[in-house]
Amino acid sequence: MTAGRRASSSDVPSAEATTLAVEDFEAAARQRLPRMVFDYYAGGAGEETTLRENRRAYDRWVIRPRVLVDVSTVDLRTTVLGQDVPFPILLAPTAFQRLAHRLGEVATAQGAASVGALMVVSTISTASLEEIAGTGVRRWFQLYVLTDRDLTAELVKRAHAAGYGAIVLTVDTPVLGRRLRDERNRFSLPPGIGLANLAGAGLPTAEGSALFSFFVDRIDPSLDWEDVAWLRSLTPLPLVLKGIVTEEDARLAVEAGVDAIVVSNHGGRQLDGAPATLDVLPEVVAAADGRAEVLLDGGIRRGSDVFKALALGARAVLVGRPYLWGLAAGGPEGVRRVLEILRDDLALTMALAGRAGVPAIDRSAVAPAPRDPDRGEDT
Ligand code: GLV
Repeated sequence: MTAGRRASSSDVPSAEATTLAVEDFEAAARQRLPRMVFDYYAGGAGEETTLRENRRAYDRWVIRPRVLVDVSTVDLRTTVLGQDVPFPILLAPTAFQRLAHRLGEVATAQGAASVGALMVVSTISTASLEEIAGTGVRRWFQLYVLTDRDLTAELVKRAHAAGYGAIVLTVDTPVLGRRLRDERNRFSLPPGIGLANLAGAGLPTAEGSALFSFFVDRIDPSLDWEDVAWLRSLTPLPLVLKGIVTEEDARLAVEAGVDAIVVSNHGGRQLDGAPATLDVLPEVVAAADGRAEVLLDGGIRRGSDVFKALALGARAVLVGRPYLWGLAAGGPEGVRRVLEILRDDLALTMALAGRAGVPAIDRSAVAPAPRDPDRGEDT
């Protein structure tokens, strides 16, 4: 792939010329979406400190470019869990996508499929996992363990039958985080939009966030490491744990025989005060010690963010809000554009950093950023 892309020249700026960065799609989505929906996607838990820190963590590293390296071809291809991907950026599971676009997850899947990207489909999607599979997108299934274990087991079996390539168990959500925006907006699903994998059920009526009440009603807060073994016994699919941010849990995950770990704080939506994912990536990578692949999500907005995460040991990254903004702004085409922007920006970063392939993005490619006394970090 070539690393650069020339903007088209015409008198009227094309949509492509005005949406050059993820932030442009966010601005477009903010204009289009009802406040309740934009806030649900954009918001985090508590004071949103972890949400902000996820972004700021990328500024704590600089890239160490190497020169006089042949970058006439930059190869973004890699594998995750032995599965080929054209570039190391996956779609993180996000809920209720029909709030953003009429076709919801099906539109996202079409956009992802058009660039060969792998999509992690949420348990609480608003199109069924089978409908999404019908698009042909590369796919893994994100699992919430419900108090109804038979129904949980059935979801896993359905995912396997529908060609999902892994089960991604979310482990940071025994209960839902306190999302003040959703409580203030009385977040709920409009009529006609339901939980397509759970017989189309709606969310319970609630004084505050209906999603919070759903978790109280349906999600099992007793989930522990023994249940990971139970899950393993249900399916031959690779098992990924999403939501680990400590070396202790990374070690337990490896001992439990999981295939991959996603370093994630749920996009700052669960425990406010949890560390930024990039900050803890090195300790998780060290603890996993090559026995499980390590992926990361949280705050990825540009190619240099992906590059830094890879240099610190991530096999690949996942993005959530960026493609939701693309979905809201432009449906499948918007999702495709956002993924292309991130992909091409990563290719450009790699070329300028003198790393022509993913394996060349090693620990020597980044260094801690010098501390800036003007920012008063020492006071
Ligand atoms: C669902 O998982 C959410 O974070 O809202």
